[in-house]
Amino acid sequence: MSLPSHGGNVHKIARSQGRPSNRVLDFSASINPLGLSPTVRRAIQQAIALAVHYPEIDVLPLQQQLAKIHKIPEACLVIGNGSAELISVLPRALGTRHGLVIGPTFMEFERALTLAEAHCTYVHATPNAGYAPPIDAVCMMLNRQAKTKRNKNSDNTVPVDTVFFCHPNSPTGQVISRAEFRRLLNSVQKAGARIIVDEAFIDYCASRSVLKHVRTFKGLFVLRSFTKFFAIPGLRIGYLGGPVSAVNTIRSLLPPWSVNTLASAAAEAALKDKGYQRQSVTFMNLERKRFRACLQHIPHVQRVYSSSANFLLVQLTAPCQVSLLVQELCEQGLLIRDCENFAGIDVPTIRLAVRRPQENDRLLKALKRGLLKWS
Ligand SMILES: Cc1ncc(COP(=O)(O)O)c(C=O)c1O
Repeated sequence: MSLPSHGGNVHKIARSQGRPSNRVLDFSASINPLGLSPTVRRAIQQAIALAVHYPEIDVLPLQQQLAKIHKIPEACLVIGNGSAELISVLPRALGTRHGLVIGPTFMEFERALTLAEAHCTYVHATPNAGYAPPIDAVCMMLNRQAKTKRNKNSDNTVPVDTVFFCHPNSPTGQVISRAEFRRLLNSVQKAGARIIVDEAFIDYCASRSVLKHVRTFKGLFVLRSFTKFFAIPGLRIGYLGGPVSAVNTIRSLLPPWSVNTLASAAAEAALKDKGYQRQSVTFMNLERKRFRACLQHIPHVQRVYSSSANFLLVQLTAPCQVSLLVQELCEQGLLIRDCENFAGIDVPTIRLAVRRPQENDRLLKALKRGLLKWS
């Protein structure tokens, strides 16, 4: 099975264009534009000497640190080589037969379900509703299933046993209220299912995290990533909180030493760096607002959706051909994400990471030039 396409192909594109990777501006992967914090850089440099040893097999110091921060037992946590590694084993570990994916969203949920030979059903948000997550529709479906209480749904399909929900969602940037979350969890529980909440971008709106509830809600699994917020996509580290027995099964499916020494050292330092965390959130709140307002004035930009993360979803008017625009910008060393290959997006749409003001201004100019053609 082939990999779904993702953003962030900086090295490959730089190589094909004969330019160094640092001459490519990547708006296609949404990485904290403030880059590596000096504290994290120092921790990585210090950890290099430890590369002559195997990493700690159970990543214990980081696990203890995370348990303390999130006020959950250590045994409820498993750390992986990026949250992508954990996503890939989840359906197999949980024995998932039918996953309901709240879309349009990260395509690795569908891939993990397919690899586990499970069904995948999407319930998509729509542009007309501002891509608000379709919680009512999902709850209705789960409530219907709860009522039938049989092995098969009325349409003869296997009942949904696992819901996948990315929050804030990528690529739409949308979040739901606490009341909506309660309703969703309630319906999941009534239907005898479980829910996996992917919080890869939650650090930009941390108060909305549901991670601490894994202690009390039996069917809740929460994924977190160090990649985006701490700007370490190249190190690969993420974690999952969930019920102890399921966490043990997940751990048993991972290869030994999947988390390397530099990644765990970087993660430990990152969690302590409160100054960087505050600065990142403050910066993003300001620059996302400015960037969004500028984008809204570009001809052929039909709508820029609100966002609680470090990217913006931009819908273009119908005549625009996104693939041509992506190509044209790529030739200028500017990478943007064509959203065409997200299941559930069928209008011309791009996703743009919010970067530093000067970089965003450069993209704004290039976008203006590129989109003028369609007038
Ligand atoms: C929503 C979402 N979840 C998870 C991941 C995987 O992140 P990582 O494996 O780097 O932790 C990504 C990466 O793009 C993502 O967009």
